[in-house]
Amino acid sequence: MTKLYALVPAAGTGSRMGEGIPKQYRMLAGKPMIRHALEAFCSHPAIERAYVVLAEDDAHWGTFDWSPLSEKLAVLHCGGQTRAASVYNGLERMGAGDDDWVMVHDAARPCIDRNSLDRLVTELSDDEVGGLLALPVADTLKMDDGGRRVSRTVPREGLWQAQTPQMFRKKRLLEALRLAPDRTDEAGAVEALGLCPKLVPGDPRNFKVTYPGDIALAETILRERE
Ligand code: C5P
Repeated sequence: MTKLYALVPAAGTGSRMGEGIPKQYRMLAGKPMIRHALEAFCSHPAIERAYVVLAEDDAHWGTFDWSPLSEKLAVLHCGGQTRAASVYNGLERMGAGDDDWVMVHDAARPCIDRNSLDRLVTELSDDEVGGLLALPVADTLKMDDGGRRVSRTVPREGLWQAQTPQMFRKKRLLEALRLAPDRTDEAGAVEALGLCPKLVPGDPRNFKVTYPGDIALAETILRERE
């Protein structure tokens, strides 16, 4: 029987938020941002364990109480220079078997919900490759000319916006990240192996908190859920 694990890289600084503390620790609906996603993973019955990858010199994690999650939570102090390096280091150190599934999720997507996780698991558990949550692009897309003028309109048919979690088997993901460490998500690295990850419809509320203005929206979504 293969097992399912969560891996949350949280070794970034979140500089676009323009704050002193890394964004994963910014308070959101009464909790540090990362806590919301970790609660979703730790409370999911199919997930064996949730691993968090922190920067080696992280000075914030220890200032919070994680004991309510401690049964399933494991902390790895092995963050790298890039998100891909943090994921790679985490995969190398976590306790999973080669064929076990790993769901990689951004600490900055606090609004991940149970239905989306269930959809991902259901659609991928028998899949050869693995896949990711994603949304069909709704807006018309413009390419700029290098300045702020439109050079062309990009057809949106068939385009999806990638989200996380992205779920692959551990050994394959390690191989992919070794081959293609410059890709910005796990699916991109797996594509570099010549494989086609499956697109599983996500939820627009699972957006990545990136700019200061995103905080209020995330807070509204989380409070409504409470
Ligand atoms: O900065 P961005 O929002 O793209 O980061 C996505 C995720 O990757 C965050 O959870 C962040 O903490 C993590 N990350 C990491 N190691 C890095 C850079 C980003 O774990 N060196």
